[in-house]
Amino acid sequence: MKIKKQTGLRGTLTVPGDKSISHRAVMFGALAKGTTRITHFLEGADCLSTISCFRKMGIEIERNQDQILVHGKGLHGLQAPSGILDVGNSGTTTRLISGILAGQNFSSEIDGDASIRTRPMKRIMAPLASMGADIISRNNNGCAPLIITGKPLHAVHYDSPVASAQVKSCVLLAGMYADGITSVTEPFLSRNHTEIMLNYFGAKVSSTGTSAAIYPEPVLEARDIVVPGDISSAAYFIAAGLLTPDSEILLKNVGINPTRAGILKVCRSMGADITLLNKNPEGEPTADLLIRTSSLKGTVIQGADIPTLIDEIPMIAVMAAFAQGTTIIQDAQELKVKESDRIAVMVDNLKRMGADIEGTDDGMIIHGGRPLHGAAIDSHLDHRVAMSFAVAGTICEGEMEIQDAQCVDISYPEFYKDLYLCGN
Ligand code: S3P
Repeated sequence: MKIKKQTGLRGTLTVPGDKSISHRAVMFGALAKGTTRITHFLEGADCLSTISCFRKMGIEIERNQDQILVHGKGLHGLQAPSGILDVGNSGTTTRLISGILAGQNFSSEIDGDASIRTRPMKRIMAPLASMGADIISRNNNGCAPLIITGKPLHAVHYDSPVASAQVKSCVLLAGMYADGITSVTEPFLSRNHTEIMLNYFGAKVSSTGTSAAIYPEPVLEARDIVVPGDISSAAYFIAAGLLTPDSEILLKNVGINPTRAGILKVCRSMGADITLLNKNPEGEPTADLLIRTSSLKGTVIQGADIPTLIDEIPMIAVMAAFAQGTTIIQDAQELKVKESDRIAVMVDNLKRMGADIEGTDDGMIIHGGRPLHGAAIDSHLDHRVAMSFAVAGTICEGEMEIQDAQCVDISYPEFYKDLYLCGN
């Protein structure tokens, strides 16, 4: 994919549905009684992997143009899968489904692509084992393929060493099949979509500070779910709108749950002109975001803010390279175990563009403001890397070439079309 410089991005855009919420809507809909109707579902490859896994366990899921119908069979309605559960590239599918599978009365095997086979799974294997689950890594390397033999589970309190919504959700989902109240505490609060949506489906989940607890054996009832626009997808257009001269972009109906909206805080601290319109605080809060060209300055990003913007750091790193002054990102060691090692990959590719950036153990230091030029970018098949550099290509001088650019299908199949339309 070749990208050229653009000026004056203008227009109104509705970004695709939130990836985290789309996964959960299918999963919880499958475990609820009745038909769950999902609108603005993200038709990205990751969420389609979740659909295919639940179909393999006997759940009928209809897909049509503007909605997904999940014909749920209740908490104990899944059947032994008809084959290996293929999670593709999706860490969310792998870790959340493992929590559900641990408490079933059948065995299953989960596998995925080359990237998923390198993602750390000990972080869910350890808490699940403490609940009495039987979960093993086929190659004994703490990664997928995972073989899960369903067992009766015990309630535990788990102190998670990482702030991870996937770990938290895995334990809470297993807790639905346990013999008492299961709880998780994490060092910082990670996205809380599981807690919000399980309560909406009728479960009893309580949250205090960085802890969440769930009562076992909830009766989940089918619901209608309207998935908000994904702030992680909006991030590319926030950056493009802020950095491209003479731009004004309106992003409609974006999810602004505070556990996800750290990018807005960071952009403001960098001097961004972003206005929130039509705020809707119900359930998962949403707003329209009005983005206007701004001159950006460096900032410091750390601690409790990191989980609220973890997937946006590739885009933030690019913004920091175009901003004046130094940006320091720390406490973000989780970046190393995402779809690629996002510290190494961002540092390497930004250097190819002429940026002054250094990687650290838990983040990066970027001295912004150098003139940046197009380069051949290796996406490492990481959708967020590809999209971040596509945006960079619309701002810098010279031509940008993104290798394996179609990996954006994971979370945003129409990305290049939307980026092109904004500039025309
Ligand atoms: C997700 C949680 C985050 C995030 C991922 C989606 C989720 O991962 O990076 O893209 O839907 O729960 P971790 O929980 O591993 O931080």
